[in-house]
Amino acid sequence: MHEPILSIRGLTKTYAARGNGGGTRALDAVDLDIRKGEIFALLGPNGAGKTTLIGAVCGLVRPTGGTITAFGHDLARDWRQARARIGLVPQELATDMFETVRDAVAYSQGLFGAPRDIARVDEILESLSLHDKRNSQIRALSGGMKRRVLIAKALAHEPELLFLDEPTAGVDVELRKDMWQQIARLKERGVTIILTTHYIEEAEEMADRVGIIQRGRILMVDEKRAMMERLGTTEAVIDLAAPLAALPPELAGFPVGLAEGGTRLTYRGGNGQGGGRAEVARLAQALTRAGIAYVSLDIHDSSLEEIFVGLLGSEEEAA
Ligand SMILES: Nc1ncnc2c1ncn2[C@@H]1O[C@H](COP(=O)(O)OP(=O)(O)OP(=O)(O)O)[C@@H](O)[C@H]1O
Ligand SMILES: [Mg+2]
Repeated sequence: MHEPILSIRGLTKTYAARGNGGGTRALDAVDLDIRKGEIFALLGPNGAGKTTLIGAVCGLVRPTGGTITAFGHDLARDWRQARARIGLVPQELATDMFETVRDAVAYSQGLFGAPRDIARVDEILESLSLHDKRNSQIRALSGGMKRRVLIAKALAHEPELLFLDEPTAGVDVELRKDMWQQIARLKERGVTIILTTHYIEEAEEMADRVGIIQRGRILMVDEKRAMMERLGTTEAVIDLAAPLAALPPELAGFPVGLAEGGTRLTYRGGNGQGGGRAEVARLAQALTRAGIAYVSLDIHDSSLEEIFVGLLGSEEEAA
């Protein structure tokens, strides 16, 4: 196992109290390791601490406690060395609206000590389909295009570790797919990417690993596939050729029930241990052994979204 590109230990952030309320604990002893070259998706509801976590790594939020090590540098001590290798596409659009697209991107390039390279700026604009807007003022762009400018700015100094804080919020479906491709291309170039999103579909599509954060705590980190297998449920609907009055003994032990007047068999299983699909295959064999014919078998695995909602729901009950 390679040394992580980013290593976070015991990271805590309590925002100071305003007025007479207590402070807000936005991050609570977060431990997280990010592997070089992966796409890591951080999922969590509003106010979970995602932006605070990113801000702490990018030097925008001063942690209350804990350590952050990036590229082997302790950020509290060697912030500059690491900072030049980190890029951020912030959640909030904060950029000079009167600047032209090209100037804005060239400015970001210089900001991190990279030499001015207009050819490279044009290449980035080209790759984000912004080239024909290069001389437009940013205020004249649509919201989705403004977001692309933010991405271009974040790429200008060729970061090795890129944070995308809700990169596709407010972006239409077509543009979103386009941005997914851009992000995939960055990964191919070896850039490590951490993104936050409310579109779970996005994490499902792109991420190698997923972390779930709620109330400043990381509830779970895992390979996306493993998470879907471990926590996912499989549902199957089997329409029978002839109705059954009762479940035959061959089906004892399978999590199945009869519906639609005995013409439909419903299966729901695999919860917590995966293997739902394999069990449905065994179920189909058992049906054949019992001499029960069926006309169709539909199988559906729960999505990351269903897992996510289920997980946050059960935490809510426990709290
Ligand atoms: N500058 C600040 N001062 C005080 N409290 C803050 C500040 N920034 C964030 N918070 C609080 O910290 C908590 C975490 O906020 P954060 O912005 O990190 O959440 P998030 O997961 O990014 O949410 P969202 O999905 O809405 O972007 C929230 O309770 C928020 O109100
Ligand atoms: Mg946020």
